[in-house]
Amino acid sequence: MTVTEKIINKAKAAQKTIVLPEGSEPRTLIAAAKVLADSIARPVLLGDPVLIEKTAADLGADIKGARVIDPVDKESAGYYAESLFRLRESKGLSREEAAKLILDPMYYAVMMVKCGDADGMVSGAVHTTGQMLRPALQIIKTKPGINCVSSSFIMELPDKTYGEDGVLIYADCVVIPDPTDEELAHIAVTTADTARTLCDFKEPRVAMLSFSTMGSAQHESADKVRRAVQIARRLSPQLCLDGEMQFDAAIVPEIGALKAPGSSVAGRANILIFPDLQSGNIGYKITQRLGKADAFAVLQGLARPCNDLSRGCSSDDIVKTIAITAVQAG
Ligand SMILES: CC(C)(COP(=O)(O)OP(=O)(O)OC[C@H]1O[C@@H](n2cnc3c(N)ncnc32)[C@H](O)[C@@H]1OP(=O)(O)O)[C@@H](O)C(=O)NCCC(=O)NCCS
Repeated sequence: MTVTEKIINKAKAAQKTIVLPEGSEPRTLIAAAKVLADSIARPVLLGDPVLIEKTAADLGADIKGARVIDPVDKESAGYYAESLFRLRESKGLSREEAAKLILDPMYYAVMMVKCGDADGMVSGAVHTTGQMLRPALQIIKTKPGINCVSSSFIMELPDKTYGEDGVLIYADCVVIPDPTDEELAHIAVTTADTARTLCDFKEPRVAMLSFSTMGSAQHESADKVRRAVQIARRLSPQLCLDGEMQFDAAIVPEIGALKAPGSSVAGRANILIFPDLQSGNIGYKITQRLGKADAFAVLQGLARPCNDLSRGCSSDDIVKTIAITAVQAG
């Protein structure tokens, strides 16, 4: 069974309510119809109900079981605007600004999740990562004990040689451009949690990547990774984590044994933590294109799940992301 199939089965068992703020967007409507038909989750579509009905009918998408909410509806918008004002008052948000912000479907959806009226949110077929992330960061905030929101990419390779039967998890490839050593440590611990929850990794083995292996090179950027290893070990003493190490030392057993003898991770890592966003984002795209890996992104570290789509996503990608969000909510 593929990782995606496992996640979809878990989502079906969880039966969560997932709000889709881009409710009249065609790929989103096709995805919502599939999610309903296969009982993967309970979708809530935000938008003008007349437009949603008409677009769905034109597409032949059966969304009869979905709840449709018009975010400009006076009563619910008033309630969420007041809650938003109270949450952000200390940050200087006025009641009038909150009333305007809530008309943005991203803010409305995030407030639904915050207030417990939805278990999670999926968007980004139309909006940018920043437009989706900002309200989530401001309102949902991080899980207790985690100091930052970051992302994981689940990479499923056709070649089963490396990682967990061909599955590797990369982080952070989307959110934090230049993480501090503390943030890097939290990214490692959070990614191990994602690996257990979504991919059923029994033993997450985390390699903290660098251009240096166990002190082979001296540079401030390698020192940062070394400090992150120490912090991560304090945060999660049971976690199988090691570094700093180069990519080949992390995944190739012979090279791991040569460059990092005695390491419990070197040569058998199934989670790769990149030192910054440039290397993480480049790394996942190289694996996706040259390694022909299936790649899907997950936001992690939020107190309640919100996930971002690529603007080039297909309706199947949206279904997959709804399932991931439902599993995270469970
Ligand atoms: C995530 C991102 C959108 C935040 O941008 P921003 O709005 O300028 O962030 P700010 O520094 O103003 O912070 C806004 C709020 O989010 C919080 N925040 C920012 N980054 C955070 C993180 N990684 N984890 C937790 N909270 C975070 C801040 O603490 C702040 O909270 P507050 O308003 O309650 O004080 C920005 O880091 C970003 O653009 N990252 C790269 C995204 C990207 O383009 N990726 C490539 C896509 S493939």
